[in-house]
Amino acid sequence: MAKRALILGVTGQDGSYLAELLLEQGYEVVGVVRRSSTVNFERIAEIQDRITLTPGDLLDEGSLINVLREHKPHEVYNLAAQSFVQTSFSQPVLTGETTAMGVTRVLDAIRITDPEIRYYQASSSEMFGKVQAVPQTESTPFYPRSPYGVAKLYGHWMTVNYRESYGLHASSGILFNHESPRRGLEFVTRKVTHGVAKIKLGLASELRLGNLDAQRDWGYAADYVRAMWLMVQQDTPDDFVISTGETHSVKELVEVAFDAAGLNWEKHVVIDPAFLRPAEVDLLVGDSSKAHRVLGWQRDVQFASLVQMMVAADLKALQI
Ligand code: NAP
Ligand code: GDD
Repeated sequence: MAKRALILGVTGQDGSYLAELLLEQGYEVVGVVRRSSTVNFERIAEIQDRITLTPGDLLDEGSLINVLREHKPHEVYNLAAQSFVQTSFSQPVLTGETTAMGVTRVLDAIRITDPEIRYYQASSSEMFGKVQAVPQTESTPFYPRSPYGVAKLYGHWMTVNYRESYGLHASSGILFNHESPRRGLEFVTRKVTHGVAKIKLGLASELRLGNLDAQRDWGYAADYVRAMWLMVQQDTPDDFVISTGETHSVKELVEVAFDAAGLNWEKHVVIDPAFLRPAEVDLLVGDSSKAHRVLGWQRDVQFASLVQMMVAADLKALQI
């Protein structure tokens, strides 16, 4: 009998890659989608006829219980969240309801309907915030710097708590930034690669950015969803840092992206204070030794190749 996996956040970047991976592994895939006035299935368009979509929302626990009762999944991956840090400063309550309390609603729905379901929680390196050690590991103390980071920390500890209180097979993946051509346009990598493509094609002349000094540990989303699946397959649930172990500044990202299109970034990038944050996370770099050792996980795609892949994809999409 095929295993059945339920993905919350299937319309997002990671949800779409994870759905593809699970289909390749022979899973039946059920994706939860929330009500919207327009259809936003672009990322899953190519697999839509091979997965089941069902309505539900992290803000509505009854809807989650109904989905679990109807579809009886063996594994639940909670990738749904208000995931943009900047928005979490202007909408802290919504971010808390979705990104923090949403986790409790899913965990509780699992406890009520079928505690044998295996659970993956999408936790984040944003929980390290003002970092207390370099590089960051599973035992580095947390110090979140945004309402998003605080909300993710709550979700992380609820996952640990439901594991310890009710024996749920619940794992928390502390994932560092991961990107792809499917990344939302508001995140800095995609904003830059899309901006570069527009400038190259004569559709724009400048790109407005905030803090160029911030450093991030950027990996490729398709590599990272493999780690999620591996965590859920372990006999024992646990928490894992998933990262590349390298850090690069936003400025380096900009240089690589403009270079990829044969452009000089200094002629086009404008610093705009509108993109600065009330509190910044200056430096993230993870140590994934535990994931390498226990999960056998490795990433395939390097930083420069990732940025070049994204520039190429944006050029192709805009030329059509
Ligand atoms: P994303 O592209 O922003 O996708 C977020 C998903 O959550 C979308 O499918 C969205 O649905 C859904 N969603 C939002 N609010 C919801 C609600 N109230 N009920 C049900 N679904 C809701 O995010 P991502 O980059 O794929 O990231 C996946 C997860 O990993 C997120 O939890 C994120 O916080 C976390 N994370 C991401 C990174 C990263 O670098 N990408 C790193 C660490 C952790 P709509 O399409 O309807 O908006
Ligand atoms: N978005 C954005 N836009 N960021 C900018 C800009 C800009 O114009 N200019 C500079 N930055 C800087 C931000 O200040 C931040 O330091 C860095 O670029 C990365 O910003 P984002 O790409 O928005 O990602 P993030 O690191 O805040 O959050 C992402 O990674 C987290 C994991 O650490 C998101 O995917 C989160 O959901 C995820 O948990």
